[in-house]
Amino acid sequence: MTNLRGKAFSTRAVHAGERMKQGEHTPVTTPIVPSVAYLYESMDELDAIFANTRQGYVYARYTSPTVAAFETAVADLEEGEAALAFASGMAAIQAALLAAGVCAGSHVVCAYDVYGATYSLLTRLFAGLGVRTSLVNVSDLPAVEAVLREGGTTALFVETISNPLLKVADIPALAELSHRHGAQLLVDNTFATPCLIRPLLHGADYVIHSATKYLAGHGDVLAGVVVTDAANCLRMFETNKLLGSNLGPFEAWLALRGLKTLPLRVREQCRNAQHLAQWLAERPGVAKVNYPGLAGHPQHALAKALFGDQGYGGVLSFEIQGAGRADAFRFMEALQLCLAATTLGDIYTLILHPASSSHRTLSEAERQQIGITEGLLRLSAGIEDPLDIQADLEGAFQTLKL
Ligand SMILES: Cc1ncc(COP(=O)(O)O)c(C=O)c1O
Repeated sequence: MTNLRGKAFSTRAVHAGERMKQGEHTPVTTPIVPSVAYLYESMDELDAIFANTRQGYVYARYTSPTVAAFETAVADLEEGEAALAFASGMAAIQAALLAAGVCAGSHVVCAYDVYGATYSLLTRLFAGLGVRTSLVNVSDLPAVEAVLREGGTTALFVETISNPLLKVADIPALAELSHRHGAQLLVDNTFATPCLIRPLLHGADYVIHSATKYLAGHGDVLAGVVVTDAANCLRMFETNKLLGSNLGPFEAWLALRGLKTLPLRVREQCRNAQHLAQWLAERPGVAKVNYPGLAGHPQHALAKALFGDQGYGGVLSFEIQGAGRADAFRFMEALQLCLAATTLGDIYTLILHPASSSHRTLSEAERQQIGITEGLLRLSAGIEDPLDIQADLEGAFQTLKL
Protein backbone atom coordinates (compact mmCIF):
# COMPACT_ATOMS: atom_id res chain seq x y z
CA MET A 1 0.00 0.00 0.00
CA THR A 2 1.21 3.51 -0.80
CA ASN A 3 2.31 5.49 2.26
CA LEU A 4 -0.25 8.28 2.53
CA ARG A 5 0.84 9.79 5.84
CA GLY A 6 0.55 13.56 5.69
CA LYS A 7 -0.90 13.58 2.18
CA ALA A 8 -3.78 15.85 1.16
CA PHE A 9 -7.42 14.70 1.27
CA SER A 10 -7.79 14.49 -2.51
CA THR A 11 -4.59 12.43 -2.78
CA ARG A 12 -5.82 10.03 -0.12
CA ALA A 13 -9.22 9.77 -1.83
CA VAL A 14 -7.45 8.44 -4.93
CA HIS A 15 -4.97 6.05 -3.28
CA ALA A 16 -6.30 4.98 0.14
CA GLY A 17 -7.08 1.28 0.45
CA GLU A 18 -5.51 0.41 -2.92
CA ARG A 19 -2.47 -1.70 -3.95
CA MET A 20 -3.57 -4.98 -2.46
CA LYS A 21 -0.73 -7.46 -2.95
CA GLN A 22 -1.70 -10.60 -4.89
CA GLY A 23 1.17 -13.08 -4.65
CA GLU A 24 4.02 -11.82 -6.86
CA HIS A 25 2.29 -8.77 -8.27
CA THR A 26 0.26 -5.77 -7.11
CA PRO A 27 -2.73 -4.69 -9.21
CA VAL A 28 -3.04 -0.92 -9.63
CA THR A 29 -6.75 -1.07 -8.88
CA THR A 30 -8.24 -3.32 -6.24
CA PRO A 31 -9.80 -6.41 -7.82
CA ILE A 32 -13.21 -7.81 -6.95
CA VAL A 33 -12.63 -10.90 -4.83
CA PRO A 34 -15.89 -12.84 -4.73
CA SER A 35 -14.61 -15.94 -2.91
CA VAL A 36 -16.74 -16.88 0.06
CA ALA A 37 -14.03 -18.83 1.89
CA TYR A 38 -10.21 -18.91 2.07
CA LEU A 39 -7.55 -21.63 2.25
CA TYR A 40 -4.36 -21.59 4.34
CA GLU A 41 -1.27 -23.83 4.49
CA SER A 42 -2.04 -24.89 8.03
CA MET A 43 -5.10 -25.13 10.22
CA ASP A 44 -3.20 -23.17 12.90
CA GLU A 45 -3.14 -20.16 10.55
CA LEU A 46 -6.87 -20.41 9.97
CA ASP A 47 -7.41 -20.80 13.70
CA ALA A 48 -5.36 -17.64 14.42
CA ILE A 49 -7.42 -15.64 11.92
CA PHE A 50 -10.64 -16.92 13.50
CA ALA A 51 -9.29 -15.71 16.85
CA ASN A 52 -8.38 -12.24 15.44
CA THR A 53 -4.74 -12.75 16.48
CA ARG A 54 -3.69 -12.76 12.82
CA GLN A 55 -5.07 -10.68 9.97
CA GLY A 56 -6.66 -12.58 7.15
CA TYR A 57 -9.85 -13.82 5.60
CA VAL A 58 -11.94 -16.78 6.67
CA TYR A 59 -15.46 -16.32 5.41
CA ALA A 60 -17.07 -13.49 3.44
CA ARG A 61 -19.67 -12.73 6.13
CA TYR A 62 -16.73 -11.74 8.37
CA THR A 63 -14.81 -9.68 5.85
CA SER A 64 -13.24 -10.04 2.42
CA PRO A 65 -10.40 -8.29 0.55
CA THR A 66 -12.38 -5.87 -1.64
CA VAL A 67 -14.58 -4.86 1.28
CA ALA A 68 -11.51 -4.40 3.50
CA ALA A 69 -9.96 -2.11 0.86
CA PHE A 70 -13.08 0.10 0.90
CA GLU A 71 -13.09 0.11 4.72
CA THR A 72 -9.42 1.14 4.84
CA ALA A 73 -10.08 3.99 2.41
CA VAL A 74 -13.08 5.37 4.32
CA ALA A 75 -11.29 5.08 7.69
CA ASP A 76 -8.43 7.08 6.16
CA LEU A 77 -10.71 9.81 4.78
CA GLU A 78 -12.68 10.11 8.03
CA GLU A 79 -9.40 9.97 10.02
CA GLY A 80 -10.56 7.11 12.21
CA GLU A 81 -8.72 4.01 13.38
CA ALA A 82 -10.99 1.51 11.67
CA ALA A 83 -14.15 1.12 9.62
CA LEU A 84 -16.70 -1.58 8.93
CA ALA A 85 -18.83 -1.63 5.79
CA PHE A 86 -22.45 -2.72 5.65
CA ALA A 87 -25.08 -3.59 3.08
CA SER A 88 -26.83 -0.23 3.54
CA GLY A 89 -26.72 2.99 5.50
CA MET A 90 -29.54 1.69 7.72
CA ALA A 91 -27.56 -1.47 8.53
CA ALA A 92 -24.62 0.79 9.45
CA ILE A 93 -26.79 2.91 11.77
CA GLN A 94 -28.17 -0.18 13.47
CA ALA A 95 -24.64 -1.61 13.92
CA ALA A 96 -23.28 1.62 15.40
CA LEU A 97 -26.18 1.86 17.87
CA LEU A 98 -25.64 -1.75 18.98
CA ALA A 99 -21.87 -1.29 19.27
CA ALA A 100 -22.41 1.83 21.37
CA GLY A 101 -24.25 -0.41 23.82
CA VAL A 102 -27.86 0.39 22.97
CA CYS A 103 -30.04 -2.48 24.23
CA ALA A 104 -33.25 -3.12 26.13
CA GLY A 105 -33.52 -0.52 28.91
CA SER A 106 -31.17 1.97 27.20
CA HIS A 107 -31.94 5.61 26.66
CA VAL A 108 -31.02 7.25 23.34
CA VAL A 109 -31.21 10.95 22.58
CA CYS A 110 -31.78 11.68 18.90
CA ALA A 111 -32.14 14.81 16.81
CA TYR A 112 -35.81 15.03 15.83
CA ASP A 113 -35.04 15.98 12.25
CA VAL A 114 -33.13 12.99 10.95
CA TYR A 115 -33.73 10.70 7.99
CA GLY A 116 -37.21 9.18 8.33
CA ALA A 117 -36.02 5.56 8.55
CA THR A 118 -33.56 6.48 11.34
CA TYR A 119 -36.40 8.20 13.19
CA SER A 120 -38.61 5.13 12.79
CA LEU A 121 -35.80 2.66 13.61
CA LEU A 122 -35.46 4.30 17.02
CA THR A 123 -39.04 5.34 17.78
CA ARG A 124 -40.77 2.23 16.40
CA LEU A 125 -38.48 -0.81 16.04
CA PHE A 126 -35.98 -0.15 18.86
CA ALA A 127 -38.83 1.19 21.05
CA GLY A 128 -40.52 -2.20 20.65
CA LEU A 129 -37.32 -3.85 21.88
CA GLY A 130 -37.28 -1.73 25.04
CA VAL A 131 -35.09 1.21 23.97
CA ARG A 132 -36.39 4.64 25.03
CA THR A 133 -35.64 7.52 22.65
CA SER A 134 -35.95 11.22 23.46
CA LEU A 135 -36.19 13.45 20.41
CA VAL A 136 -34.49 16.82 20.72
CA ASN A 137 -33.71 19.93 18.74
CA VAL A 138 -29.91 19.61 18.56
CA SER A 139 -29.59 23.28 17.66
CA ASP A 140 -30.84 24.03 21.17
CA LEU A 141 -27.81 22.97 23.26
CA PRO A 142 -29.38 23.81 26.66
CA ALA A 143 -32.37 21.60 25.73
CA VAL A 144 -30.03 18.75 24.73
CA GLU A 145 -28.12 19.13 27.99
CA ALA A 146 -31.35 19.14 30.01
CA VAL A 147 -32.23 15.70 28.59
CA LEU A 148 -28.68 14.36 29.02
CA ARG A 149 -28.53 15.67 32.59
CA GLU A 150 -31.29 13.24 33.55
CA GLY A 151 -28.51 10.61 33.23
CA GLY A 152 -28.42 7.08 31.91
CA THR A 153 -28.15 8.05 28.22
CA THR A 154 -26.16 5.58 26.13
CA ALA A 155 -25.99 7.46 22.85
CA LEU A 156 -26.70 10.81 21.28
CA PHE A 157 -27.48 10.46 17.56
CA VAL A 158 -27.30 13.41 15.17
CA GLU A 159 -26.81 14.17 11.50
CA THR A 160 -24.07 16.73 10.71
CA ILE A 161 -26.45 18.35 8.22
CA SER A 162 -29.98 17.18 8.80
CA ASN A 163 -32.31 15.50 6.34
CA PRO A 164 -34.41 17.26 4.99
CA LEU A 165 -34.26 20.61 6.81
CA LEU A 166 -30.49 21.17 6.53
CA LYS A 167 -29.86 22.11 10.16
CA VAL A 168 -26.18 21.99 11.11
CA ALA A 169 -25.18 20.21 14.31
CA ASP A 170 -22.50 21.73 16.53
CA ILE A 171 -20.45 18.51 16.64
CA PRO A 172 -17.67 19.76 19.01
CA ALA A 173 -20.21 21.12 21.52
CA LEU A 174 -22.40 18.01 21.29
CA ALA A 175 -19.37 15.73 21.77
CA GLU A 176 -18.38 17.65 24.88
CA LEU A 177 -21.95 17.56 26.23
CA SER A 178 -22.50 13.87 25.57
CA HIS A 179 -19.16 12.83 27.10
CA ARG A 180 -19.75 15.02 30.16
CA HIS A 181 -22.98 13.09 30.71
CA GLY A 182 -21.59 9.63 29.96
CA ALA A 183 -23.09 9.20 26.49
CA GLN A 184 -21.38 8.45 23.19
CA LEU A 185 -21.86 10.66 20.15
CA LEU A 186 -22.94 8.98 16.91
CA VAL A 187 -22.83 11.22 13.85
CA ASP A 188 -24.45 10.47 10.51
CA ASN A 189 -22.09 12.36 8.20
CA THR A 190 -23.85 11.37 4.97
CA PHE A 191 -24.85 14.89 3.87
CA ALA A 192 -21.62 16.64 4.89
CA THR A 193 -19.14 13.95 3.75
CA PRO A 194 -15.55 13.92 5.05
CA CYS A 195 -14.81 16.62 2.47
CA LEU A 196 -16.54 19.17 4.72
CA ILE A 197 -15.91 17.74 8.18
CA ARG A 198 -14.37 14.73 9.89
CA PRO A 199 -16.51 14.45 13.05
CA LEU A 200 -14.10 12.05 14.83
CA LEU A 201 -11.57 14.91 14.96
CA HIS A 202 -14.21 16.94 16.82
CA GLY A 203 -14.89 14.31 19.46
CA ALA A 204 -17.54 12.07 17.87
CA ASP A 205 -17.28 8.38 18.79
CA TYR A 206 -18.87 6.88 15.67
CA VAL A 207 -19.24 8.33 12.18
CA ILE A 208 -21.82 6.73 9.93
CA HIS A 209 -22.44 7.04 6.22
CA SER A 210 -25.05 5.91 3.84
CA ALA A 211 -22.29 5.23 1.29
CA THR A 212 -25.15 4.83 -1.19
CA LYS A 213 -25.02 8.64 -1.42
CA TYR A 214 -21.92 10.81 -1.84
CA LEU A 215 -19.20 8.23 -1.07
CA ALA A 216 -20.22 5.95 -3.95
CA GLY A 217 -21.86 8.85 -5.76
CA HIS A 218 -23.28 7.36 -8.95
CA GLY A 219 -26.64 5.94 -7.91
CA ASP A 220 -25.64 2.35 -8.61
CA VAL A 221 -24.74 0.84 -5.25
CA LEU A 222 -26.41 0.47 -1.85
CA ALA A 223 -23.84 0.58 0.96
CA GLY A 224 -23.15 1.81 4.47
CA VAL A 225 -20.06 2.28 6.60
CA VAL A 226 -19.17 3.09 10.21
CA VAL A 227 -15.83 4.61 11.22
CA THR A 228 -14.73 4.49 14.84
CA ASP A 229 -11.82 3.39 17.06
CA ALA A 230 -10.30 -0.08 16.83
CA ALA A 231 -12.01 -1.44 19.96
CA ASN A 232 -15.48 -0.29 18.87
CA CYS A 233 -14.86 -1.64 15.40
CA LEU A 234 -13.90 -5.05 16.75
CA ARG A 235 -17.17 -5.11 18.73
CA MET A 236 -19.14 -4.24 15.59
CA PHE A 237 -17.22 -6.88 13.65
CA GLU A 238 -18.05 -9.60 16.18
CA THR A 239 -21.73 -8.58 16.27
CA ASN A 240 -21.94 -8.47 12.52
CA LYS A 241 -20.54 -11.98 12.22
CA LEU A 242 -23.87 -12.95 13.79
CA LEU A 243 -26.11 -10.43 12.02
CA GLY A 244 -24.57 -10.73 8.57
CA SER A 245 -25.42 -7.25 7.30
CA ASN A 246 -22.07 -6.95 5.57
CA LEU A 247 -21.34 -5.36 2.23
CA GLY A 248 -20.69 -7.57 -0.77
CA PRO A 249 -17.43 -7.40 -2.77
CA PHE A 250 -19.04 -6.11 -5.98
CA GLU A 251 -20.69 -3.24 -4.12
CA ALA A 252 -17.47 -2.52 -2.22
CA TRP A 253 -15.60 -2.28 -5.51
CA LEU A 254 -18.10 0.25 -6.89
CA ALA A 255 -18.03 2.26 -3.68
CA LEU A 256 -14.21 2.30 -3.62
CA ARG A 257 -14.19 3.44 -7.23
CA GLY A 258 -16.62 6.23 -6.34
CA LEU A 259 -14.44 7.50 -3.49
CA LYS A 260 -11.69 8.55 -5.89
CA THR A 261 -13.75 11.39 -7.33
CA LEU A 262 -15.48 12.32 -4.06
CA PRO A 263 -13.59 15.62 -3.57
CA LEU A 264 -14.19 16.65 -7.21
CA ARG A 265 -17.86 15.78 -7.12
CA VAL A 266 -18.57 17.37 -3.74
CA ARG A 267 -16.77 20.60 -4.70
CA GLU A 268 -18.98 20.90 -7.78
CA GLN A 269 -22.16 19.83 -5.95
CA CYS A 270 -21.54 22.43 -3.21
CA ARG A 271 -21.03 25.13 -5.85
CA ASN A 272 -24.19 24.12 -7.73
CA ALA A 273 -26.28 23.89 -4.55
CA GLN A 274 -25.08 27.34 -3.47
CA HIS A 275 -26.03 28.78 -6.87
CA LEU A 276 -29.49 27.17 -6.84
CA ALA A 277 -30.17 28.10 -3.20
CA GLN A 278 -29.37 31.75 -3.90
CA TRP A 279 -31.52 31.77 -7.01
CA LEU A 280 -34.45 30.07 -5.24
CA ALA A 281 -34.17 32.42 -2.24
CA GLU A 282 -34.75 35.38 -4.52
CA ARG A 283 -37.43 33.83 -6.71
CA PRO A 284 -41.04 34.82 -6.05
CA GLY A 285 -43.20 31.78 -5.37
CA VAL A 286 -40.61 30.22 -3.05
CA ALA A 287 -41.68 30.56 0.56
CA LYS A 288 -38.47 29.31 2.18
CA VAL A 289 -35.05 27.90 1.26
CA ASN A 290 -33.09 25.75 3.71
CA TYR A 291 -29.38 25.78 2.89
CA PRO A 292 -26.50 26.37 5.33
CA GLY A 293 -24.62 28.38 2.70
CA LEU A 294 -27.23 31.17 2.79
CA ALA A 295 -26.34 34.08 5.07
CA GLY A 296 -29.83 33.91 6.59
CA HIS A 297 -29.58 30.23 7.60
CA PRO A 298 -29.77 29.98 11.42
CA GLN A 299 -26.50 28.01 11.62
CA HIS A 300 -24.64 29.74 8.77
CA ALA A 301 -21.84 31.00 11.07
CA LEU A 302 -21.50 27.57 12.69
CA ALA A 303 -21.36 25.88 9.28
CA LYS A 304 -18.66 28.33 8.17
CA ALA A 305 -16.66 27.61 11.32
CA LEU A 306 -17.01 23.81 10.95
CA PHE A 307 -16.67 23.43 7.18
CA GLY A 308 -14.16 26.23 6.50
CA ASP A 309 -14.12 27.13 2.83
CA GLN A 310 -15.08 23.64 1.62
CA GLY A 311 -18.68 24.66 0.87
CA TYR A 312 -21.99 23.89 2.56
CA GLY A 313 -23.02 20.59 1.04
CA GLY A 314 -24.88 19.58 -2.08
CA VAL A 315 -28.40 19.34 -0.63
CA LEU A 316 -30.98 22.06 -0.09
CA SER A 317 -34.70 22.07 0.50
CA PHE A 318 -37.33 24.63 -0.37
CA GLU A 319 -41.02 25.27 0.16
CA ILE A 320 -43.23 26.24 -2.73
CA GLN A 321 -45.53 29.08 -1.71
CA GLY A 322 -48.97 27.82 -0.76
CA ALA A 323 -48.33 24.37 -2.27
CA GLY A 324 -50.05 21.19 -1.18
CA ARG A 325 -49.04 17.66 -2.13
CA ALA A 326 -50.72 17.82 -5.56
CA ASP A 327 -48.83 21.02 -6.49
CA ALA A 328 -45.53 19.55 -5.29
CA PHE A 329 -46.16 16.42 -7.38
CA ARG A 330 -47.11 18.52 -10.44
CA PHE A 331 -43.90 20.54 -10.03
CA MET A 332 -41.82 17.34 -9.89
CA GLU A 333 -43.57 15.81 -12.90
CA ALA A 334 -42.85 18.94 -14.97
CA LEU A 335 -39.08 18.59 -14.48
CA GLN A 336 -37.04 17.29 -17.41
CA LEU A 337 -33.48 17.21 -16.08
CA CYS A 338 -33.90 16.99 -12.32
CA LEU A 339 -34.76 13.39 -11.52
CA ALA A 340 -37.71 12.84 -9.19
CA ALA A 341 -36.02 9.86 -7.55
CA THR A 342 -35.73 8.77 -3.93
CA THR A 343 -32.04 9.25 -3.23
CA LEU A 344 -29.37 11.95 -3.03
CA GLY A 345 -25.66 12.58 -3.43
CA ASP A 346 -25.41 11.33 -7.01
CA ILE A 347 -23.87 13.01 -10.03
CA TYR A 348 -27.46 13.64 -11.22
CA THR A 349 -29.58 16.38 -9.73
CA LEU A 350 -32.31 14.67 -7.74
CA ILE A 351 -35.52 15.99 -6.27
CA LEU A 352 -37.72 14.37 -3.67
CA HIS A 353 -40.92 15.10 -1.75
CA PRO A 354 -39.96 14.24 1.87
CA ALA A 355 -43.54 13.98 3.20
CA SER A 356 -44.35 11.13 0.80
CA SER A 357 -40.93 9.44 0.59
CA SER A 358 -37.94 9.90 2.92
CA HIS A 359 -40.24 10.81 5.84
CA ARG A 360 -43.27 8.76 4.82
CA THR A 361 -43.07 6.50 7.89
CA LEU A 362 -43.71 9.48 10.18
CA SER A 363 -47.27 10.44 11.05
CA GLU A 364 -48.70 13.69 9.70
CA ALA A 365 -48.48 15.14 13.22
CA GLU A 366 -44.83 14.13 13.59
CA ARG A 367 -43.98 15.72 10.24
CA GLN A 368 -45.78 18.92 11.19
CA GLN A 369 -43.92 19.08 14.49
CA ILE A 370 -40.57 18.77 12.70
CA GLY A 371 -41.52 21.26 9.98
CA ILE A 372 -41.87 18.93 6.99
CA THR A 373 -44.73 20.47 5.04
CA GLU A 374 -46.56 19.11 1.98
CA GLY A 375 -44.98 21.88 -0.14
CA LEU A 376 -41.40 21.03 0.89
CA LEU A 377 -39.06 19.61 -1.75
CA ARG A 378 -35.50 18.38 -1.20
CA LEU A 379 -33.00 18.92 -3.99
CA SER A 380 -29.64 17.20 -4.24
CA ALA A 381 -27.40 19.07 -6.68
CA GLY A 382 -25.60 16.97 -9.25
CA ILE A 383 -22.63 17.95 -11.36
CA GLU A 384 -24.55 19.28 -14.37
CA ASP A 385 -24.32 22.95 -15.39
CA PRO A 386 -26.38 24.74 -12.70
CA LEU A 387 -27.90 27.09 -15.30
CA ASP A 388 -29.51 24.09 -17.03
CA ILE A 389 -30.92 22.94 -13.69
CA GLN A 390 -32.13 26.45 -12.90
CA ALA A 391 -33.93 26.60 -16.28
CA ASP A 392 -35.50 23.20 -15.59
CA LEU A 393 -36.79 24.36 -12.18
CA GLU A 394 -38.02 27.62 -13.72
CA GLY A 395 -40.03 25.62 -16.27
CA ALA A 396 -41.66 23.65 -13.45
CA PHE A 397 -42.53 26.87 -11.56
CA GLN A 398 -44.19 28.14 -14.78
CA THR A 399 -46.49 25.11 -14.89
CA LEU A 400 -47.73 26.10 -11.43
CA LYS A 401 -48.15 29.67 -12.74
CA LEU A 402 -45.80 30.90 -10.00
C1 LIG B 1 -28.88 10.90 6.14
C2 LIG B 1 -29.17 9.47 5.77
N1 LIG B 1 -28.71 8.48 6.56
C3 LIG B 1 -28.96 7.18 6.29
C4 LIG B 1 -29.71 6.82 5.19
C5 LIG B 1 -29.97 5.37 4.92
O1 LIG B 1 -29.13 4.92 3.93
P1 LIG B 1 -29.44 3.64 2.98
O2 LIG B 1 -30.55 4.04 2.10
O3 LIG B 1 -28.13 3.43 2.29
O4 LIG B 1 -29.81 2.53 3.90
C6 LIG B 1 -30.20 7.81 4.34
C7 LIG B 1 -31.00 7.45 3.16
O5 LIG B 1 -31.51 8.27 2.45
C8 LIG B 1 -29.93 9.17 4.64
O6 LIG B 1 -30.40 10.18 3.89
